[in-house]
Amino acid sequence: MANILAIGIATLDIINVVESYPTEDSELRALSQQQLRGGNATNTLTVLSQLGHDCSWGGVLIDEPDSQIIKHDLANSGIDISSCKQLASGKMPTSYITLSKKTGSRSIIHHRDCPEFSFSDFKKIKLDDFGWVHFEGRNIAETQLMLQHLKQHYPNLPCSLEIEKPRADIEQLFEFPDVLLFSQHYAEYRGFSTASDFLTSLDHDKLIVCAWGKHGAWAISPDKNIIHSTPFPPAQLIDTLGAGDTFNAGLIHSLVANIEPQKALKNACQLAGHKCGQYGFANLTTHFEFQS
Ligand code: FRU
Repeated sequence: MANILAIGIATLDIINVVESYPTEDSELRALSQQQLRGGNATNTLTVLSQLGHDCSWGGVLIDEPDSQIIKHDLANSGIDISSCKQLASGKMPTSYITLSKKTGSRSIIHHRDCPEFSFSDFKKIKLDDFGWVHFEGRNIAETQLMLQHLKQHYPNLPCSLEIEKPRADIEQLFEFPDVLLFSQHYAEYRGFSTASDFLTSLDHDKLIVCAWGKHGAWAISPDKNIIHSTPFPPAQLIDTLGAGDTFNAGLIHSLVANIEPQKALKNACQLAGHKCGQYGFANLTTHFEFQS
């Protein structure tokens, strides 16, 4: 098991479960509503923590009522928040999520109006303590400085970068991490209709992964072999919120354990599929067996 640091966000997720996704300009009643902690980096840490890793989060925490749910959940998951930037005023990022009971799909309206975690915050973290660092592909200029710093001073500390959303200049980050985790959305935005075409278009000697929803996931190894894993859909699709974050956790967990990429990809797809069969992340890994 490893000490894992993730840099990214925590959000307040207000989740309305509805019978099916509404049409525009309609009114419908939610079947249930929950307020939970969300955010890619902290979702990934929650799963990694269940898998037995010691997890720390570097992000922004604001002293306001909504952060209570977030702090409480992080404490329950044993995630260390001592590396966070704590602000006395402002508002935590909030996601308004419509979760369709019919399909398990999640539609997210995200609102944020708060500062990002900066390079100067990152430099305060004692990186010697960690065995893996994971970054969200956001806040590009500052994240680039963090990655550069990490690779210059800790060249043997493995790190991964998630590229979920297209953002200006995000490709400037690609040269630094050991592992790149792309979304289907990003590959399509770049004009590709298959993961393998996208992956072969990239010229980097590292493990690069691209998840492709119900078709599974592809990766290209540092020696340029294309790898594919089939998807592992659950008997019933219940909740796809955070499936990508869970996939990333499954992959990082496998790579930390030196599991070879083909099996790591399969483990990640299996864990993500398993997550889609249940609400939230609670006890996600209890009956889950990783292939080694
Ligand atoms: C799921 C998620 C939610 C959050 C949103 C932020 O991947 O992390 O928990 O509200 O995405 O973009």
